[in-house]
Amino acid sequence: MNNGPGLILKALQNSKTEYMPGSALGSMLGTSRAAVWKHILTLRKKGYIIEGKKRHGYRLIEEPDRLNAGILKTANINHFTAVESTNKIARSAAANSSSFFSAYSAEEQLHGRGRLSRNWFSPSGAGLWFSALIHPDAMNPAEAAPVTLTTAAVLAAYLNSEYGLPVKIKWPNDLMINGKKFGGILTEMISDLDRVSSLIVGIGLNINNRAEDFPEELRGLATSAYIESGARIDRTELLLNLTAKLESAYRVFCESGFFPFYEQWKKYNYTLGRHIKVKLSGTIVQGTAVDLDKDGSLLLEEGKGTIRKISYGEIV
Ligand code: BTN
Repeated sequence: MNNGPGLILKALQNSKTEYMPGSALGSMLGTSRAAVWKHILTLRKKGYIIEGKKRHGYRLIEEPDRLNAGILKTANINHFTAVESTNKIARSAAANSSSFFSAYSAEEQLHGRGRLSRNWFSPSGAGLWFSALIHPDAMNPAEAAPVTLTTAAVLAAYLNSEYGLPVKIKWPNDLMINGKKFGGILTEMISDLDRVSSLIVGIGLNINNRAEDFPEELRGLATSAYIESGARIDRTELLLNLTAKLESAYRVFCESGFFPFYEQWKKYNYTLGRHIKVKLSGTIVQGTAVDLDKDGSLLLEEGKGTIRKISYGEIV
């Protein structure tokens, strides 16, 4: 913002709690007070809360919540202000990256993608939208599938223990708080029939969103950490810690599979014991989710002891 609004912002930041008269801002820029007013409106649109008081001028009350790009850079996280989708960025980086793990995050996604070709609401100043790119050494597609459950287990365990957030996992990829969707995971892979060359694990977490920030159609279904706890979270710090946790978890996963995360998944699960309907390709089946198989499939009791193993589907 190295222009009118940017210079005004600098001046307001420097004057701290003091009011800056509109005339002083005008002469600093060599423009009229009307032009200053237009720049103030631009800053307010970007999320800056600026108080205007007659005969006093303007005062900066609050800056918008932004991920700290400098800190993320020092931690080797590839951070962007706005991208279409971090999964897309990670996918295009896959061919040229050789490191086992890399992370791609964005303040805002313009076309955030959810599972089953849905959109993922990803505004700036509110959530964590990031993708992990992993290059497993020797893994086939079936072995790679439970990376989504592994990710969910790691995220739920960390957010419960470090932030006291009662995050639960709805099979296979939803993160819930108090029965509403708080986050989701979209896993993609680049693979041939017997060898996975890249795994892209996209993670979306609603962190500091206020209820009114969600579009109306999501309001009854989605929630955020802030809505549920009343506390704002330092998103930069959380992103640093989560990417570090995930990197070490993925090393274990690539070595030993899902088994080391199985109990943790069960501890934080939302699904087992519930009567559910699952949409498979074409049909809907229903029953009680009785257990999780060691490979991450859901075991559904359809009645009279008949167990159906479901490895892919969506609970509706
Ligand atoms: C879902 O529950 O449907 C999965 C949502 C996954 C959203 C994340 S946000 C970061 C990454 N980039 C995307 O476009 N999608 C994933």
